[in-house]
Amino acid sequence: MEKKAGSNGGESLNILEVKNLKAYYNGSEVLKGISLRVGKEAVAILGPNGAGKTTLIKAICGLVRTKGEIRFLGKSIQNLKTHERIRLGISVCPEGRRLFPDLSVEDNLLLAGDEDMLKTAYELFPKLKERRNQPVKTMSGGEQQMVAIARALVQRPKLLILDEPSIGLAPIVVKTIGEAIAKIRDMGIPVLIVEQNVHLAFRIASRAYVLVKGEIVKEGSVEKLHNLEEHYFEL
Ligand SMILES: Nc1ncnc2c1ncn2[C@@H]1O[C@H](COP(=O)(O)OP(=O)(O)OP(=O)(O)O)[C@@H](O)[C@H]1O
Ligand SMILES: [Mg+2]
Repeated sequence: MEKKAGSNGGESLNILEVKNLKAYYNGSEVLKGISLRVGKEAVAILGPNGAGKTTLIKAICGLVRTKGEIRFLGKSIQNLKTHERIRLGISVCPEGRRLFPDLSVEDNLLLAGDEDMLKTAYELFPKLKERRNQPVKTMSGGEQQMVAIARALVQRPKLLILDEPSIGLAPIVVKTIGEAIAKIRDMGIPVLIVEQNVHLAFRIASRAYVLVKGEIVKEGSVEKLHNLEEHYFEL
């Protein structure tokens, strides 16, 4: 029986499957053979600074040298170029956002997607609609993060990857952004979210992996990992 998106497991279909993945910068091994999967669900990657979380995202996108297998929608993609992986439906909201600061909200979005998807993005973030003609560089950090998430969404992703969307934001903004990501999940878009904010990650994801020093040290359902919160930062 098909499981509901966001429910526990998501085992019916693998959207993303990573097997024994290693990643290297100048010969130093930063990911040490990790395996994980994302089904039709939201999955979180937790872990301290320097654990290799962003490197994992770069590896999935083909931006770093890797060994091992990466399957997306049943197809091996580890030998594909970055733009080919993106064309297959992998969409990333990156660390540092990487928006065009002088362009308006709407131009940032239109460069990535089409007008049909703008409507969806504006429904999700009404504030962006109000400010659609405003240059991105004049917006608050939280608003810029909304633009970055919206830009990933308008690409009609088959997998949305978010790199620490809550970083540096006030709790009220984190709440807004968390609610928006939950809505994206509920649209049926599989989500892989990297977070250090365990509370936010657990509100969005059904399962999580804990990455420490390039290795997965814990994995399981959010329910199972719930008591992680207290001692997680000592890992
Ligand atoms: N371009 C690079 N060249 C060399 N080493 C790098 C490069 N990028 C990252 N590293 C190293 O790889 C390791 C993992 O970095 P990564 O950015 O993946 O960690 P992270 O878990 O995303 O951390 P953070 O939470 O601070 O974003 C770190 O030791 C980092 O110094
Ligand atoms: Mg990072």
